[in-house]
Amino acid sequence: MTHATLAGAPFVALQNNDLYLEGVKLADLARTHGTPLFVYSKAAMLSALAAYQRGFAGRNARICYAMKANSSLAVLQVFAQAGCGFDIVSGGELDRVVAAGGDVSKVIFSGVGKTRAEMRQALEAGIACFNVESDAELEVLSEVALSLGKRAPVSIRVNPNVDAKTHPYISTGLKGNKFGVAHERALQTYQRAASLPGLHVTGIDCHIGSQITETTPYLDAMDRVLDLVQAIEAAGIPIHHIDFGGGLGINYNGDTPPEADALWAQLLTKLDARGYGQRQLMIEPGRSLVGNAGVCLTEVLYLKPGEQKNFCIVDAAMNDLPRPAMYEAFHQIVPLTPRNGDAVVYDVVGPICESGDWLGRDRSLTVQTGDTLAVLSTGAYCMAMASNYNTRGRAAEILVDGDKAHVIRRRETSADQMAMESLVS
Ligand code: LLP
Repeated sequence: MTHATLAGAPFVALQNNDLYLEGVKLADLARTHGTPLFVYSKAAMLSALAAYQRGFAGRNARICYAMKANSSLAVLQVFAQAGCGFDIVSGGELDRVVAAGGDVSKVIFSGVGKTRAEMRQALEAGIACFNVESDAELEVLSEVALSLGKRAPVSIRVNPNVDAKTHPYISTGLKGNKFGVAHERALQTYQRAASLPGLHVTGIDCHIGSQITETTPYLDAMDRVLDLVQAIEAAGIPIHHIDFGGGLGINYNGDTPPEADALWAQLLTKLDARGYGQRQLMIEPGRSLVGNAGVCLTEVLYLKPGEQKNFCIVDAAMNDLPRPAMYEAFHQIVPLTPRNGDAVVYDVVGPICESGDWLGRDRSLTVQTGDTLAVLSTGAYCMAMASNYNTRGRAAEILVDGDKAHVIRRRETSADQMAMESLVS
């Protein structure tokens, strides 16, 4: 194995035949803390953030980390301390921002189904903006804000109807998606928003999908959004900020998304050319800030040769790593301590009672029972989507910073899982 095979995970490297994340030997962590175990690199997160910061140097821009990608408190703390705002999609996420010491005045609230209670919570906390996704939501938000004697700052999520060319489940900017207000209706929706007494129109936003690896969909979406800004302002409604959402992909398996700074160099050229370069800009990146900062360590429990397939059964499962089962997603799987010997082709599977419980198919591995494997690029949408299916406790999490390893979440016990339940007496 060479460093090249780990290109998607720049802070993971082999040293003397042992896999390290920053200055920490992963095998030591697995031994001390058990498996499955998520391990994140703080340097990798900050380096991903730095690419955006370079891209926006000299601009009036705010990076709102889309915390749905990984909402563990210590991860939020890293981004809060680096000055980021947060893109939230629930009242629970707002509670987490507060608990992690984040600045609530830099929070934007996305999502198609905000409840009245969530609107009240966010208004009382004083968030920066609601990204409203329908006409119906506008009416309710205005009513809730008035009942609190406030005006809600709003931006309307417009659906630019561009193809992000990604997996259908994570593509959000096409007409057939449930997200946003159709481009053709947007002006009307803005006029309604401007007329509602409980609202204060501040911006516009769009988000076209996730794991986007091409620049063109962004450029197309930007054109469509700027056309709207022009029309909305011509109708007398000023737009103070423009939010271009998140969605930038990462390298899972030789994917070649643009770097954040290179992407933004192109987007800013277009913005400048169209005369909007000095507006307040916002973005909502999730995956690209954390995805390649994390690995999941898992122990090989059994090797099970078969007539058609060989199975490598590990102690992590679809409840820990749901992306393969949900999107047929690919994650590299590498041993922590590579062995010499002939490789065998395995399906790497978990212990859950479902055929969909696989982590990798047709992987060529030289492994023995008791070895530990690292599933790479698992910093985003893994722990955040983990469940207790099969009454499996959620994994522990470690944040590595240089040669230090901090436990940021202890392993969940059965008692934790049962704590909210009761028998009928
Ligand atoms: N803003 C909005 C309104 C979003 O819906 C999302 C993601 C983001 C920002 C952040 O997108 P990112 O930069 O992370 O691509 N569970 C799926 C991904 C779902 C993305 C949902 N929305 C996966 O594992 O691939």
